[in-house]
Parts: sequence; C-alpha cells; structure tokens
Amino acid sequence: MKRLAILLSGRGSNFQAIAANCRSGALAAEIGLVISNRADAAGLEWARSQGLPAVCLPSKGLDRDLYDQQVATEIRKANIDLVCLAGYMRILSAAFVREFAGRILNIHPSLLPAFPGLDAQKQALDYGAKMTGCTVHFVDEGLDSGPVVLQKAVPVLDDDSVGTLSARILAEEHRLYSEAIRIVLDGRYRLEGRRVILSSAS
Ligand code: GRF
Repeated sequence: MKRLAILLSGRGSNFQAIAANCRSGALAAEIGLVISNRADAAGLEWARSQGLPAVCLPSKGLDRDLYDQQVATEIRKANIDLVCLAGYMRILSAAFVREFAGRILNIHPSLLPAFPGLDAQKQALDYGAKMTGCTVHFVDEGLDSGPVVLQKAVPVLDDDSVGTLSARILAEEHRLYSEAIRIVLDGRYRLEGRRVILSSAS
C-alpha cells in the first residue's frame, strides 16, 4: 500500500476528502503521516480523532531550512511515497524540494499560472475573471509554480461572493486532488520539461 504524508496548516477539508477515499478504497493508499505547522489546525485535531498518525511541528520563529529538516526527518521515518500539501501555508526549502523531487503535490484554488499566492479566489473575483478553478501541481521551490498535473475550470458567476465561489471551487478540489494522487502513485504520466503528459488508465 502506498503511503501519503499530508502537510497542512488549517481546516483540512482536502485532507479529509483524501482520507475518505483512502478509507473507501477509491484511492489505493493510506495516510502514513499528518504534519501540521500549527497547533490549532482543525485538520490536526481531525486526524487525531480518526486515530491517524499526526504530529505538530510548530514553525513559528524557526529558520526555514531547520524547520524543513525536522519535517523531512518525520517523513523519512514514516516511509512515505508521496507528500501532499493540503492548505499548507509555507514555501518549502530548496533542500526539501530536492530530497523529495517529483514526490510532492499541492492544490491551489485557481487555474495556475493565474492568481498564485494567497486569496486566489478573491484575486479572480477582483480581476473580473469569468473562469477560474483549481490546479494540482508538483511542488518546486517557487510559489505555486511547479508542473501542472490536473486542472478543473469553475465559472465565476455574476452574483458570486468570495464565499460562494470558494465553496464551488472547493467541491472540485476535493475530487481533483485524489484523481491527481492516483495518477502520480500509479506512475501514469511522464514529464516533458514543464509538461506532465498523462498516459491512459490501464
Ligand atoms: C484550499 O483552497 C487549497 O486549494 C488551498 O488552501 C485551501 C485549503 O483548504 N491550498 P482545506 O484546509 O483543505 O480545507
């Protein structure tokens, strides 16, 4: 069974969707480790309530390289195949990205490269975009800048607020992330430069 590490900082609804798919067998993987950099993350509490292996590594005030070394140590110990960032509000150090190259995914609530960074849904609304969505991508050292695995478009409606738009995108995120994880765990892709070329399902 392939083992996932989930890195999160907050609510953890993407994590919960992934965990539900692991539990149901829709995803042939198990949650091997949950790491939160914040003690008050709801996702951390939920992991514990489910009996999933979860650790809190507070990042406040710590040097990025030192902090990421701690995270890497936990991931090595837990024998992890794929690291999934799920609302993890930190940029990863170069050393971390190098060590787990091609084995770190992130989900972002826009169609990258549009609207990277914080408040992507508000950015799309404020810009007046008619279409936005979500992206699952490999993680590199930049901000939301790695090769795209999957994207799903979501229309912006005239009467959308940040709340209503975010909720519609989030529903798609919950589906898209597990689909991307499945592709990567199955090795059903190849990388050509920045392009993630998917192979058909066997
Ligand atoms: C999601 O919108 C995700 O795309 C972004 O952060 C949010 C995390 O939400 N990276 P949750 O913690 O998974 O509920």
